[in-house]
Amino acid sequence: MRAMRFHEFGGPERLREDVIDRPNPGVNEVLIELSATAVNPADWLRVVSPEVGLGVQMPYTPGMDFAGVVREVGSDTVGLQVGDHVYGAEFIGRCGTYAEYAAVPADIVASAPKSIALHEAAAVPLAAMTAWEVLGRNHADIRAGQRVLIQGGAGGTGSFAVQFAKRHGAHVIATSSARNHDLLRSLGADEVVDYQSARWKDAVRAVDAVVDLVGGEAPLSSISLIREGGVLASIVPMPQTVAACKAAVANQNIRLSFVDMSVNRDTAVLEMIARLIDLGELKAVVSGTYPLAQAAQALERSRAGHVSGKLVLTIAALKSSGSRT
Ligand SMILES: NC(=O)c1ccc[n+]([C@@H]2O[C@H](COP(=O)([O-])OP(=O)(O)OC[C@H]3O[C@@H](n4cnc5c(N)ncnc54)[C@H](OP(=O)(O)O)[C@@H]3O)[C@@H](O)[C@H]2O)c1
Repeated sequence: MRAMRFHEFGGPERLREDVIDRPNPGVNEVLIELSATAVNPADWLRVVSPEVGLGVQMPYTPGMDFAGVVREVGSDTVGLQVGDHVYGAEFIGRCGTYAEYAAVPADIVASAPKSIALHEAAAVPLAAMTAWEVLGRNHADIRAGQRVLIQGGAGGTGSFAVQFAKRHGAHVIATSSARNHDLLRSLGADEVVDYQSARWKDAVRAVDAVVDLVGGEAPLSSISLIREGGVLASIVPMPQTVAACKAAVANQNIRLSFVDMSVNRDTAVLEMIARLIDLGELKAVVSGTYPLAQAAQALERSRAGHVSGKLVLTIAALKSSGSRT
C-alpha cells in the first residue's frame, strides 16, 4: 500500500511516499481502507526533532484521523463487519493514517455520519472529540447561561468548540483574526474578538470560563478576564505555560484544567457526534483538501498556524463492497 512516511526528523518537506506492506488486523482489531485522513498539528510537531517527538521511531507514518470502510475483521473482534463505514482517531504514534490502510483497535472505531461523504467525515474525529472533552464535565464544565471565551475559535478544534459551547447554552465569545469573524458568527459565536488588535481584552467582559485552544501567551493573557470561581481549560499544556498559569492563579479562586487526548478515546462520543451531524446540528468546516501524495503541502500550511477548520487528505473513493485494491 502507499504510505506517507518520515525517515528522519525535520520539516514537512521530509515526508516521502513509500510502498509498504499492508498491515494485518490483530486480535480485536479491524483493517480499514481509508477514504481520507485529516491534518492535526501533532502530525508535523512530533517529527520536528527527537527531543520533541519523544519515542518516535523512524520510519514514521503520521496521522490519527481516519474515515473509511472496514475490509477485514481480526479475531475476537465484535460489533464491526466488513463493509461498515467507520471513522475515528488512532492514538498518536500507533498506526499512522497517512496511508491507504490502517489496522486499528475496534474499540476506537465508530459508525461514520451517514449524511456526509467519508472525505468530510475524516475532518471530524480528533478535533470534535477534543472540543467535546475540553468543554465537558472533566474540564471547563460549561453550563447554560455561562459566558465562555474560546481562544482560537476558527481552527480545527475551535470550529467544533464554538458549536458545542453554543449547544450547551453558553454565551460564546471567540477569538480569531478578523478574516475569520464571519466564520465564527456562522458557527454560533455571540461575540467575536480580533486577538491581533493590541487592546483586544478591552472588548471582553468577565467570563466564567476561558477555553484555550492556542497555547503560548493566550491562556496566561486571558486569566485576568476570568471571574472569581471560574476556570481556565486548555488543550495546549506545554510545561512552561502550565507553570506560568499555576503561578498566576496561585492566590485566586480560579481552577485550571488541562486536556490530554493521548489517553482519551470514547466511541460513544464519536457516535453522538455522528448523530448531531446527521441531524444537521453540527458541521465540519473543511477549508482545504489535498491528495495524500501532497500531504507535505498540507502539513506546511498547518505549520504556518492559520488554517480555518480542517485540512483533509483524500486517499480513495470507496464503495461499501468490492475487493481490496
Ligand atoms: N491536548 C491534546 O490532547 C490536544 C488535542 C488536539 C489538539 N491539541 C493542540 O491544540 C492546538 C490547536 O489544535 P487545532 O487542531 O485546533 O489547531 P489548528 O486548527 O491548526 O489551529 C489553527 C487556528 O488557530 C488560530 N490561531 C492562531 N493563533 C491564534 C491566537 N493567538 N489567538 C486565537 N486564534 C489563533 C488561527 O486563527 P487565525 O487564522 O484567525 O489566526 C487558526 O484558525 C494545537 O497546538 C494542537 O497540537 C492538543
